[in-house]
Amino acid sequence: THQWRGIIEEYRDRLPVSDTTPVVTLREGGTPLVPAQVLSERTGCEVHLKVEGANPTGSFKDRGMTMAISKAKEEGAKAVICASTGNTSASAAAYGVRAGMVSAVLVPQGKIALGKMGQALVHGAKILQVDGNFDDCLTLARELSENYPVALVNSVNPVRIEGQKTAAFEIVDMLGDAPDIHVLPVGNAGNITAYWKGYKEYAADGIAGRTPRMWGFQASGSAPIVRGEVVKDPSTIATAIRIGNPASWQYALAARDESGGAIDEVTDREILRAYRLLAAQEGVFVEPASAASVAGLLKAAEQGRVDPGQRIVCTVTGNGLKDPDWAVAGAPQPVTVPVDAATAAERLGLA
Ligand code: F0G
Repeated sequence: THQWRGIIEEYRDRLPVSDTTPVVTLREGGTPLVPAQVLSERTGCEVHLKVEGANPTGSFKDRGMTMAISKAKEEGAKAVICASTGNTSASAAAYGVRAGMVSAVLVPQGKIALGKMGQALVHGAKILQVDGNFDDCLTLARELSENYPVALVNSVNPVRIEGQKTAAFEIVDMLGDAPDIHVLPVGNAGNITAYWKGYKEYAADGIAGRTPRMWGFQASGSAPIVRGEVVKDPSTIATAIRIGNPASWQYALAARDESGGAIDEVTDREILRAYRLLAAQEGVFVEPASAASVAGLLKAAEQGRVDPGQRIVCTVTGNGLKDPDWAVAGAPQPVTVPVDAATAAERLGLA
């Protein structure tokens, strides 16, 4: 009787739903806000991780998808479509099942993590691998939704942003006010847009006393907002944010400028270092793109750009199980032992 009801029921009065909107939910949201001890020590700040990999399909996309699919169902849609680097498609596939709708997903050929492909497949989505990158997939998805009977559920759909803003509400509800700084990875730039909207709404209604500075981080090989120009052939090991022409570019700039924040870049090496630190020292396993937020915070701290004593929240956007290749790669192979306690104890360094 005390189960979290999902973001639509928990924040109904702040979302564009009515009594007749069908609620398609997997009880998303209500994710852990975990104090990060090692990151706090390294920065001299109070750092928390908003662990969005704890959502039903393993990423923050579920917050937007419960809204997008519920509204599509309300409007009578029989099919939805999205372009995706993997997480949006996994989420659309799962929520499509709940709604009894066909989900069509367009993904860049060879550039999505295996776990995400597995999700779309097992949920029965119609998958097309496009011979192009995410930006090409989004162009195609838009064109199809304009000319065929299928609803677009990418974050260019404003109800996706409405759903995703609830993460900011949860943080303020938990901490009692907004943090000083909010850090997150940036790909298509929908999520930074959504958090900023959520923080502004709570501040405008006096639920929060302030808004945070928004710090977004792109991968160096896919950093159009940092460079100020479209990246034609984006590259990064963080495939979730391998995006060269973000749809919410202007909103991301507004979030940065209105909040007094920053959008910067981190290299793949910095991303992987943060990825390993999170797993090995905080006990939180995220996918590489998610570690871009923490990589950015560590880089800023090392450059002396983080004043101590601040309260900082880093969103870690997706579960590490989505893309385990990076956990296994470069790690030592486990040794094989016979069924013998003495040998096992010796190999474990216990004897
Ligand atoms: N982190 C993860 C794990 C993501 O999957 C994404 C985006 C982002 C960060 C960036 O968020 O696009 O709102 O700036 N993934 C999209 C997808 C593009 O198709 O799953 P953003």
